[in-house]
Amino acid sequence: MSSTAIYPGTFDPFTNGHLDVLERAVNLFDRVDVVMAENSRKQSLFSVEERLDMIREVVSVFPNVGVDVLHDGLLADYARTVGAKAIVRGVRQVKDFEYELQMSLLNRHLYPEVTTVFLMPNVKYTYVASSIIREVALLGGDVSKFVHPYVLEMLLRKRVERKGKP
Ligand code: PNS
Repeated sequence: MSSTAIYPGTFDPFTNGHLDVLERAVNLFDRVDVVMAENSRKQSLFSVEERLDMIREVVSVFPNVGVDVLHDGLLADYARTVGAKAIVRGVRQVKDFEYELQMSLLNRHLYPEVTTVFLMPNVKYTYVASSIIREVALLGGDVSKFVHPYVLEMLLRKRVERKGKP
């Protein structure tokens, strides 16, 4: 029986840290679906369409990776609908863990058949988070080591767009 995992996140934008986690998940599961979802605690820089476009570009090299969006509703319900065995989450530091543990236990409560799998990216991505990448890029810093060239282009475009605003 084939195993499907979902890799959810806000991905605002998708970073090389996310890519590292995805590559590890691809080695563990037959299929991985990257699911872009909204986080009620965050306001995003990129629109849903922009984020999907970037993710599709970055993951196009993997034959067994799909991309989907969860417009609203619970991730646990989405996992049940697609028959996902696992939810993949990247954990960089101990401070990530409290929130992740809370989410994983709640997701298990909502859909007991799903298991959250925590994967650690390469240590070089320990301090790479979408929020800091956005901030540095919008202030003109070089983030080319941390994002795919297409994501970099989108960040630069966003910077120009925002500079034009009063
Ligand atoms: O990249 P993020 O912001 O850490 O991802 C968080 C995300 C999108 C995975 C989480 O907020 C989520 O699952 N949202 C969907 C709605 C939901 O199911 N919320 C309850 C989670 S227990």
